[in-house]
Amino acid sequence: MAGGTASLRGPSGLAPRMRRASHAQNGRRDFCGAAGGVRESTRRTGGREVSRVLEPRPRAAPRSRESSAAAIAGSGHGGGAGGGAAAPGPGRAGAAAPGPGFPMMPSGATSHPSRASPPPAKYGGRHTVTLIPGDGIGPELMLHVKEVFRHACVPVDFEEVRVDAESSEEDVHNAIMAIRRNGVAIKGNIETNHNLPPSHKSRNNLIRTSLDLYANVIHCRSLPGVETRHRDIDILIVRENTEGEYSSLEHESVAGVVESLKIITAGRSRRIAHYAFRLARAAARRSVTAVHKANIMKLGDGLFLQCCKEVAAEYPEITFQSMIVDNTTMQLVSRPQQFDVMVMPNLYGNIVNNVCAGLVGGPGLVPGANYGHDYAVFETATRNTGKSIANRNIANPTAALLAGCMMLDHLRLHGYASTIRQAVLSSLDDPRTHTPDIGGPGHDLGGRPEHHLAPPPRS
Ligand code: NAI
Repeated sequence: MAGGTASLRGPSGLAPRMRRASHAQNGRRDFCGAAGGVRESTRRTGGREVSRVLEPRPRAAPRSRESSAAAIAGSGHGGGAGGGAAAPGPGRAGAAAPGPGFPMMPSGATSHPSRASPPPAKYGGRHTVTLIPGDGIGPELMLHVKEVFRHACVPVDFEEVRVDAESSEEDVHNAIMAIRRNGVAIKGNIETNHNLPPSHKSRNNLIRTSLDLYANVIHCRSLPGVETRHRDIDILIVRENTEGEYSSLEHESVAGVVESLKIITAGRSRRIAHYAFRLARAAARRSVTAVHKANIMKLGDGLFLQCCKEVAAEYPEITFQSMIVDNTTMQLVSRPQQFDVMVMPNLYGNIVNNVCAGLVGGPGLVPGANYGHDYAVFETATRNTGKSIANRNIANPTAALLAGCMMLDHLRLHGYASTIRQAVLSSLDDPRTHTPDIGGPGHDLGGRPEHHLAPPPRS
């Protein structure tokens, strides 16, 4: 990334704030921040690169008020503690609580509701995570995540696997193997060339379907310091991630007539509906809205809607409503505050995710997660490659960094997640650090240390 680490807008601008947040949270000054105390080792194995941060691990810190609240919130939901060998240190302060799994939530109120436990830690409390840089701005965004993790002494090692638009199917399968091995991945988006034949499947889609990452979850919430038309948006969007319009089953029956199959099954519709209701329950949400087009696709969307209705009956404390997708998009842009949790088939999920990301400030701000029973992959919510802005040090790193926080919550490293999230949000509160997509200056401010260290203005 051109000049990325020197820029005010780059993640290194976050580092001093992150350290301040760490100190404030942990009540001491020696948490990983000592200059020169950071080393990184990189080893190459086959096509993979494993980089490991070698700082001394932080010592245990007293449990913060927030993590106690998380533990109390968590205990009511029976989310299950544990999750493998706990790393000592402040990052584990909230480890007794079930993972929040969502980007902006300050406490453990929203555990990922379908996974018993994240993969256990290795190497004396460290986790290995697959990192796929992807195309366009993906590599620079992943670099930001690595750098911020390094500054925060996060006990995570990255196994880097390169897959891009040109990669062979074998490369994609190697990446999938790496995710199976580690259980967790973070990725940039991989470009899909529209002009290639239908046999060339989207690499992103292949990863999601091979690993049965059936629930795509994004949390669209109004952010501090980001000017938008609407305020007080707080929507959890649950998207079925493995079937529907993304079946990649298309054929030209006769010249000029193409059939593109949308697959809706009762099993997967019920599975995603249960996911949405369990999430609503865990997050103490009041309503779930199923989005559909059953007036036209009476069989396919009709089945999806019917399954949602049946599942809703098992969660009587949560209000269920349904809404046709076209009306939904209109309602979203006119009165988004009416929505709480939303659940929908694959393509509507993509569209609604993009609309909602736009409502809270754009594609650079919102993180996303893809959960299955066994694996989890984190990325930006709108999954853009941002090719036209790549390598110019203007891509907004917020979504990728918050996706990293979601990943840390999934790994039950709640303390680290909340430290980084706090630093990201406080940087966002300072207009001088804004990237051009949210009205920032659009040029490199030079990254002078006094910029980095200036306290964010308070409203
Ligand atoms: P794009 O990559 O052109 O992005 C749309 C707009 O958002 C651009 O103006 C871009 O500059 C801006 N943007 C995105 N991320 C940003 C960031 N972090 N900071 C500031 N601005 C940012 O989107 P498009 O054309 O939809 O997708 C390009 C490629 O991505 C295509 O190859 C497409 O196939 C692939 N794609 C794949 C998806 C998947 O999950 N399979 C989903 C969406 C796109």
